[in-house]
Amino acid sequence: MTGHYGVFYGFQKEPFAQDIQVADMIKSESVKGARKRFDFAVQLAAIAVITGDIGSGKSSALRYASSTLHPSEYRILYVTATSGSVTELYKQICHTLNVETKGTSKALLTKIIRSGLMQLLQKKQKPVLIIDEASILRLDVFTELHTLMQFQYDSRPVLPVILAGQNNLIDNLMFMQSRSFSSRVVARGHMETLNRDEMQRYLEHHLSIAGCKHNLFSEQAVTAIHQGSGGLLRRANNLARGALVAAATEKCDIVSAEHVRIASTEII
Ligand SMILES: Nc1ncnc2c1ncn2[C@@H]1O[C@H](COP(=O)(O)OP(=O)(O)OP(=O)(O)O)[C@@H](O)[C@H]1O
Ligand SMILES: [Mg+2]
Repeated sequence: MTGHYGVFYGFQKEPFAQDIQVADMIKSESVKGARKRFDFAVQLAAIAVITGDIGSGKSSALRYASSTLHPSEYRILYVTATSGSVTELYKQICHTLNVETKGTSKALLTKIIRSGLMQLLQKKQKPVLIIDEASILRLDVFTELHTLMQFQYDSRPVLPVILAGQNNLIDNLMFMQSRSFSSRVVARGHMETLNRDEMQRYLEHHLSIAGCKHNLFSEQAVTAIHQGSGGLLRRANNLARGALVAAATEKCDIVSAEHVRIASTEII
């Protein structure tokens, strides 16, 4: 399953898998911070914003925070933003609500979503809308989302919205057009990049996920992965995996900085 390098190092599974399980995630300060902000927005039916560079762990942190909500009490509505109109986003929300989308008019879709939310609330399920990749949303979509959030049940707001995206998401929320929506932001956090020591622990942690109890990366290899990735997780994964492949090809027990260099020529 992990290819020839997995066999060479005796891994039980892929150490740097993209679809990492929640139980295997490192609960770093950034991850815990994202969860705290997520929970706060859920409590208040308000908005939380999580920003971070590409591959810094935003979506994974959202997966972790979502997993801590009890499924009998909460219903996660997870959508990935598009650069299209609000109706595209609304159709996705309808889909996560398992309701049919008849027609494409904004007014009709809003009505369908509201009745879907109402049905959840009547079943004592609290909706939580997560919009991942929200940095690509058009500004007019924020204006519309504000209208959706106006929806109340028992004269209380009911729909928390958690946005995740790259750093320009904050700039987009500052525009006049987005202000009515962003005035409901109660928490915002940032997924920090890893420093050199954190990277060492990150790599060791991932090897242990694969059942490997000893460190395969030399000090210089860790430094090379840290520098080459800028402390970003996905890039670190790609460098570490590529370096393991290069080291296994040479039948080396320990990954060197040179193996990381070879790996870096394979990725963009
Ligand atoms: N808490 C964590 N512990 C261990 N590994 C993690 C953690 N968070 C993320 N990763 C690893 O980093 C990879 C990238 O994370 P993720 O997809 O969450 O980043 P992202 O910020 O959402 O990226 P993008 O900007 O492309 O949407 C994951 O596939 C996973 O392998
Ligand atoms: Mg993501």
